[in-house]
Amino acid sequence: MTSSAGPSQSSAVQGRAALVTGGTSGIGLAIARRFQQDGLQVAVLDLDRPTARAVAAEHGLGFVGADLSRREDCRRAVTEAGELLGGLDVLVNNAGFQHIDPIADFPEDTWDAMLHVMLTAPFLLSKYAWPLLTRSGQGRIINVASIHGHVASPYKSAYISAKHGLIGLTRTAALEAGEQGLTVNAICPGYVRTPLVEGQIADQARTRGITAQEVEQKVMLEPAAIKRLLDPEDIAALASYVASPAAWGMTGAVLDLDLGWTAR
Ligand SMILES: NC(=O)c1ccc[n+]([C@@H]2O[C@H](COP(=O)([O-])OP(=O)(O)OC[C@H]3O[C@@H](n4cnc5c(N)ncnc54)[C@H](O)[C@@H]3O)[C@@H](O)[C@H]2O)c1
Repeated sequence: MTSSAGPSQSSAVQGRAALVTGGTSGIGLAIARRFQQDGLQVAVLDLDRPTARAVAAEHGLGFVGADLSRREDCRRAVTEAGELLGGLDVLVNNAGFQHIDPIADFPEDTWDAMLHVMLTAPFLLSKYAWPLLTRSGQGRIINVASIHGHVASPYKSAYISAKHGLIGLTRTAALEAGEQGLTVNAICPGYVRTPLVEGQIADQARTRGITAQEVEQKVMLEPAAIKRLLDPEDIAALASYVASPAAWGMTGAVLDLDLGWTAR
């Protein structure tokens, strides 16, 4: 695992600092860029690949290379982020991935990796970063869960188990952190147009023999009140508020931004 400072991290660090996991793609990248616009110093954590480094460099984001399925990487990532940013005020646990299979066929190693990346890593990063996050009295942990933190769908057992668990972790951490000015909240998006979802749309169009637009409207958005996919920037706008000092009184909240999906 290695770290590097993007252009905006090369000078003295001032103000609040944020680490966004899975921050070189989709929702994580949108949150990282929004935080930059809000005036925070931002580093993104992602798998250490040339493409991820290039995205971070292109946007002037600090980069921490880490595989969140490995405990030792989680520990080193917090140390490196703290050094890179000169502290840490906001931690966004966003990294994740999807695997679809019936339970009877679900690969055990994939289950282990998904639970580690989407549930154990948020716990470990929160634990290791706790002393940094509680230093200012305005710390924030934002966990990106999902509508699948509330409800289930078939064939997504590991994903749904991890996201349900992440909501439990959010509420527990919120109760423990309150006296230290550290808030802990979860954001639960419905379908957002990201590389992860574009891949799912293409797969379903192939397997069902229908167009991508039909998958969006008739399959993905069928339970939603608003029949339009969210954009990553929509999630970033909510994260921006939760990270702001104005949101000091919001903690343990599970914030749905889901097109009315879970209203019924
Ligand atoms: N896109 C949606 O519709 C949607 C809806 C609800 C929740 N979410 C959640 O939002 C989060 C981001 O999803 P996205 O759609 O932006 O996905 P994405 O695939 O665009 O980005 C996910 C990022 O996580 C990183 N990542 C995956 N495994 C990692 C590992 N082992 N170590 C470090 N980084 C790793 C990937 O490299 C990638 O940069 C996920 O937790 C996902 O479950 C997404």
